[in-house]
Amino acid sequence: MESAGTLDVPALFLFRCRLKNVTKAISPEALQAHDVSVVFSGLRALDHVSLYVNPGEILGLIGPNGSGKTTLINALTGQVHLAGGRVVAGTEDLTGCPPRVIARSGIARSFQIVRLFNAMTVAENVETAALAQGENRRQAKERAQGLLAEYSLSGQAGEIAGNLNYGDKRRVEIARALAARPRYLLLDEPAAGMNESESGDLLKLLAALPQKHDLGLLIIDHDMSLIMRLCHRVHVLSSGRTIASGEVEAVRNDPAVIEAYLGSSPEELS
Ligand SMILES: Nc1ncnc2c1ncn2[C@@H]1O[C@H](COP(=O)(O)OP(=O)(O)OP(=O)(O)O)[C@@H](O)[C@H]1O
Ligand SMILES: [Mg+2]
Repeated sequence: MESAGTLDVPALFLFRCRLKNVTKAISPEALQAHDVSVVFSGLRALDHVSLYVNPGEILGLIGPNGSGKTTLINALTGQVHLAGGRVVAGTEDLTGCPPRVIARSGIARSFQIVRLFNAMTVAENVETAALAQGENRRQAKERAQGLLAEYSLSGQAGEIAGNLNYGDKRRVEIARALAARPRYLLLDEPAAGMNESESGDLLKLLAALPQKHDLGLLIIDHDMSLIMRLCHRVHVLSSGRTIASGEVEAVRNDPAVIEAYLGSSPEELS
């Protein structure tokens, strides 16, 4: 099986070139965190963090353990209270909105620890998300069938989700998030627990997502190889603060980033 290290490089290069044309400036449609701070009983998990994701681009969010990556997704999706700052999607100010309102406005996420309806079938998990967005039963069924095929899960459609292996559960979670037809998809370590072959396959699916599903993608992962190959821009957090943000090549060689990943060399961040 092809691994992340043997991705079709010319295709990826063209993909990145296309992205370069759309990511030079913040789009008026961008999903943005403005100066966001989150405090947990005195601990400043996020400290005046600002970032944006444009439609059609893939932003990587990286940083050491505990640097605030998941908290930033929680802030963007209304799952934590903001001590300061704003969350905006296009012209909509979503600051302080509950998660269901943010989800309805087209921002979907996956969780670091997979959260499926374990007693439901795989197909039901995906259909439920489409129904929640207002599709009728027939539309939801068709949507689920299409997404399960895209994620090579058609054979497991009737299986109880709780019985799937870990890699399959992760793919069901992404299919379910896509069922809601989001404008932005925020994935928290989607390749965690996958073997090299599975994460290589996932990388190809993720690379195609923005064009195929017309969305902006924010992805957290500790697999630097995956992040550096997949993302056009990268945002780096350390202890709740932004320490670098920009194009992959520049961030990879940034001394502050190398120091945050103490012991890493620029080659290891490639
Ligand atoms: N609900 C919470 N209550 C209290 N502290 C929290 C809570 N959620 C996160 N934290 C703390 O906030 C900080 C940032 O955590 P967060 O989970 O966002 O980090 P992360 O970058 O996602 O880490 P990892 O790479 O390990 O997933 C950590 O110190 C964490 O212990
Ligand atoms: Mg996390």
